[in-house]
Amino acid sequence: MTERCEITGLSKEDSNLYQYLHSQLIGELKLVSPSDETLNGFSKPLANTVSNHAVHKGDKKRKDGLFQHLEKSVASKFANSKLSVFGSSESGLALKSGDFDLCLQIPDAKQKKVIKKIGGMLRGQGMESIEILTRAKVPIVKFKDPRSGLNVDISINNSLALYNTKLLSMYADCDPRVKQLAICIKHWAMHRNVSDAPSGTLSSYAWSVLVINHLLEQQVVPNIQSGDSRTLVKIDEREYDLTMNNEIKIDSENNMKIEELVYSFFKNYATRNWTDEVISIRHGKAIPRDQKGWMNEEPSALDVINSQKEKPPRMGEHHLSIEDPFDLDHDLSRVVRAEGELRIRNELIRAASMFGSGSTWKEICETVDSDRLKHLEPDDLFHDLRDKSDDIVKNMLEKTKAEMQSLEKRVEALDAERHSNVRMARAMRGVIEETSDLKKEHKAIIIGLKDRNKEIDTIRNQRDKINSDIILPIHMIEDELAKVYTRLTEELDIHRVPSLEREKEHFAWFLELQAMHGKAREASELHQRFIEMVVEQKGEIKKLKIYETKHDDATSKLLDQEPLLKDKKINANEARSYDRRVQNIQRALRQRRGELHKLRREAGRLEAWLRKKSNSHSGERGRGRGRGGRKPKTSRPKEDSGPLTLGDISGLLSGLGNEASSKKTKKVSSKKAGMRKLGNLGAHRGSRGQYKKKE
Ligand code: CTP
Ligand code: MG
Repeated sequence: MTERCEITGLSKEDSNLYQYLHSQLIGELKLVSPSDETLNGFSKPLANTVSNHAVHKGDKKRKDGLFQHLEKSVASKFANSKLSVFGSSESGLALKSGDFDLCLQIPDAKQKKVIKKIGGMLRGQGMESIEILTRAKVPIVKFKDPRSGLNVDISINNSLALYNTKLLSMYADCDPRVKQLAICIKHWAMHRNVSDAPSGTLSSYAWSVLVINHLLEQQVVPNIQSGDSRTLVKIDEREYDLTMNNEIKIDSENNMKIEELVYSFFKNYATRNWTDEVISIRHGKAIPRDQKGWMNEEPSALDVINSQKEKPPRMGEHHLSIEDPFDLDHDLSRVVRAEGELRIRNELIRAASMFGSGSTWKEICETVDSDRLKHLEPDDLFHDLRDKSDDIVKNMLEKTKAEMQSLEKRVEALDAERHSNVRMARAMRGVIEETSDLKKEHKAIIIGLKDRNKEIDTIRNQRDKINSDIILPIHMIEDELAKVYTRLTEELDIHRVPSLEREKEHFAWFLELQAMHGKAREASELHQRFIEMVVEQKGEIKKLKIYETKHDDATSKLLDQEPLLKDKKINANEARSYDRRVQNIQRALRQRRGELHKLRREAGRLEAWLRKKSNSHSGERGRGRGRGGRKPKTSRPKEDSGPLTLGDISGLLSGLGNEASSKKTKKVSSKKAGMRKLGNLGAHRGSRGQYKKKE
C-alpha cells in the first residue's frame, strides 16, 4: 500500500509533483515577497518577453494577407456571409505564436454543412492539418496555413465571442499594462503547460479574463461592464447584457509597474480563496459562491487524483470558477480536469514563491514538455535539417523529387481522365440537344397523323352514308332535273294538255330530284375533302420519313465528330453518370494536387537549405581570401546559422531560382526590386494554390 499524506491524501509521488500546492494545503508554505531590488530585476526580462512575443507589424501583415485571401474565398462560396477576426488577434492581447481566430457569420446556416464545405475548400488550397470539429459547442474548422505558418480556427456564427473580444479589446485600450500583463501571463502559462483547454487546463481566453480581473482588483482599469444604462441584445433566442461602457473612469490612479503587476498576479491567484469565490469581471471583483449559485461539486480534484479506482470519477464542476463576462451560465473552468486544476494551482504558487526566492523570469517560465511547443517555431523552417549531413539532405531531396515526379504523372493521368469524361458528358448533351428539335417535330407529325386519320374516317363515313341514300349519281340527277324542268316549263300544245295527275307526278319528281341533288352535292364536297386529307396525310408520312433520316444523319455526323460516343447509349441518365465520374475525379485531383503542392514546397526548402550551406561555405572562403573574395550573386540570408525568418526563406527560394517551382521568375537586379519581390512572395496571395475549375 502506498504511503499517503494524512491531510491531502496525496501519494508521495503526487505530493512531489504538486509540491507547492501540497505544502500550501498542509499549511507549510511560506511565500516570501521579493525585495524592491529583486522585483526591479524582473523589469528588463519582462519587457523583453513583451517585445519578443507581442505581435509586430510583420505578423500583422501576414494575418491581414491570409484574412484577405480567406475573405475572398468564402465570399465566393457563401452568399451574404461575413468573415470577422476575433480572439487575441483582434483584442490586442495576443502572443505572436497565438492562433488566428475567425468567425464566419451566415444567417440561418446549417453549421455542419458549412464547416465541411470550408474544409473541402481549404484542402484544395493546400492548407495543412485540417481538422473539422462538428461536435464542439460552436463547430470549428482548424488548419495551418503553410505559407504564413499561422494556425487558424474558423467558427460559424460565434457571435458572443465577437462581443467578448470587443470587451477585451476595450480593456486593452484602457492602459498599455493590460497588453503587457496579458503577454507575460500567457507566455508563462503556455510554457508551464497550463493553457490548453483540450488537455484539461484553462483556455488562453480564461487566462485573459484572469488578467482583467486582477487589473480590476488593482484598480488599473475601470469596470467597463458597469453603468446604469444597459444594452440588452438577443442572440439565438437568448437575451444577453452586452453593456460596454468606455466612459467609466477609475477614481484612484494606480502606478504599479509591470513587474509588480506580474508578481501580484501570481500572488493573488496563488493565495486566493477559490473555495468560496467566483471570479466575475462583470462585477469587477470576485463574488461569493452562494450569490452565484455555483457550488464546489463533488468529487473534488483531490478526490479524483486520490481515487484508487481503476477508472477515477469525473471531477465535479465549479472549482476554479471564472464567470464568462457575457454568457453568465458559462464557467470558463468547465474544461479543467482534476489533474489540470492541481497543476494550475501548483504553478501559480510556484511562480509566486520563485519571485521571492531569487529565481529568474526565465526559470519561472522554464518550458515543461518542450516537444509540445515545437510547432510554435514557424520561423525556423530548417530546424530538422540542422543536424543532418549534406548527403542525407541531398538524398531527401532526390526522394522528394522522385515522389513529385510520380505524383505529377498521376495528376496528369487523372486530369486526362477527367478531361475525357467531361468531353463525353458534353458530347452526349450535344447529341441530345442537337437532335431534340428533330425529335420534337417527329413527335408532332405522328400526333398529326393520328388526328388526321380520325378525321378522314369520319368524313368517309358521312360521305358513304349519304351516297347509300341516293339512287342516282349526281350527273344523272342533274340531267334528269334538266329534263323534268324543261318538261314543266315548255310551251303547251293546247291540244295535248297533260292530265293534272301527270302534272303532279312531274312536280313531285322534280322536288325529289332537287332534294337528291342537294344531298349529292354534300356528298361530293365531303368526297373532295376526303381526297384532300388523304393527300395531306401522304405528304406528312413522307415528311416523317425525311425527319427520321435527318435524325439518323445528325446523330451519325455528331458521332463522327466524337468517336468516343460510338456504341454508347445516348440519353440524359448516361450523361449524368459521366458528370458524377467527373466530380469524383475532381475530388481525387484536388487531394493529389494538395500533396504535390506540399512536395514542391518541401523540395524548395531542401534546395534552399543546401544552397544556404554552400553559400555560407563559399562566404567563409571569400572572407579567408581577404577583401577580394567574390560576392555571391544572389541575396543571402543572415550568416549565422540561427533560425531563419520567412523573409530569408523567401529570399533563398526566389533569389536562387527554385527548381521546384514551376513558375519562371524574372531576374531582379536592383536591391529595391529584390525587396519588392520578397514582399510579393511573403504576402501576395492572389494566385496561391487555388485549383480553379477548368471545365
Ligand atoms: N472564447 C469564448 N469562450 C471560451 C473560449 C474562447 O468565447 N471558453 C472566444 C473568445 O472570444 C476568445 C476566442 O474565443 O477571445 C479565442 O479563444 P482563445 O484562442 O482561447 O483565446 P485568445 O485570446 O485568442 O488567445 P491566443 O492568443 O492564445 O490565441
Ligand atoms: Mg486565439
